Amino acid sequence: MSAPVILQEVSFAYGQGELRRLVLREVNLRVEAGEIVILTGPSGSGKTTLLTLIGALRAMQQGSARVLGQELLGAKEAARVALRRRIGFIFQNHNLLGYLTARQNVAMALELDGRTSERERLARAGEMLAAVGLAEHADKRPAQLSGGQRQRVAVARALVANPGLVLADEPTAALDRASGQEVVRLLRDLARRRGTPILLVTHDPRILDIADRIVHMEDGRIVEAMAAG
Ligand SMILES: Nc1ncnc2c1ncn2[C@@H]1O[C@H](COP(=O)(O)OP(=O)(O)O)[C@@H](O)[C@H]1O
Ligand SMILES: [Mg+2]
Repeated sequence: MSAPVILQEVSFAYGQGELRRLVLREVNLRVEAGEIVILTGPSGSGKTTLLTLIGALRAMQQGSARVLGQELLGAKEAARVALRRRIGFIFQNHNLLGYLTARQNVAMALELDGRTSERERLARAGEMLAAVGLAEHADKRPAQLSGGQRQRVAVARALVANPGLVLADEPTAALDRASGQEVVRLLRDLARRRGTPILLVTHDPRILDIADRIVHMEDGRIVEAMAAG
């Protein structure tokens, strides 16, 4: 099986004409099967843009991105939608729906495949919430949970459908040190057990130790890759 993420010479610009601004410059990056890679670098260096390209949330302009076997350069919207369903996303501000319970939020990630009955979805969501330590809180709404608990729900939602890849953008940014570390360790442990690769963007130095490899980005380029440890 080839690597889940293979980027070759990926460049990307926002805007047109005189306003055109190149924000990614010939980026090469691989994430191997089961690998946990942290992408770090200053604000504005292009981390989120790169993650949204890999997640098929935005159209590629130049270079090649093979993600879970799908080439994204020139990919049709239907192919991008299909790929997104095989990826677990975790964002800075959890993106949970306020009017749904934790269990319903997690179960939503299983609705997309259209095969699982609602009962089965809620049962699997409950198991996943237990795995992130929230068995007692499954029927609460996001507003009744702490920031760390909400982000653990987001972890459960990202993993419940057994994605081939997890993409996380600043998942600890809104959390204090202790809950931030707890969330990423949980994410790492659950992903490791399933062999799910993770690409996690952060500029939080407190969580770098969960990575197999740290990749550093500056001004739209990857400037440095190092083994963690
Ligand atoms: N939608 C957008 N339109 C125009 N410029 C953008 C947009 N999103 C980001 N940028 C610019 O692209 C550059 C890279 O942004 P981003 O990928 O968000 O970096 P990071 O996640 O590393 O902070 C920044 O200069 C930012 O201002
Ligand atoms: Mg960002």
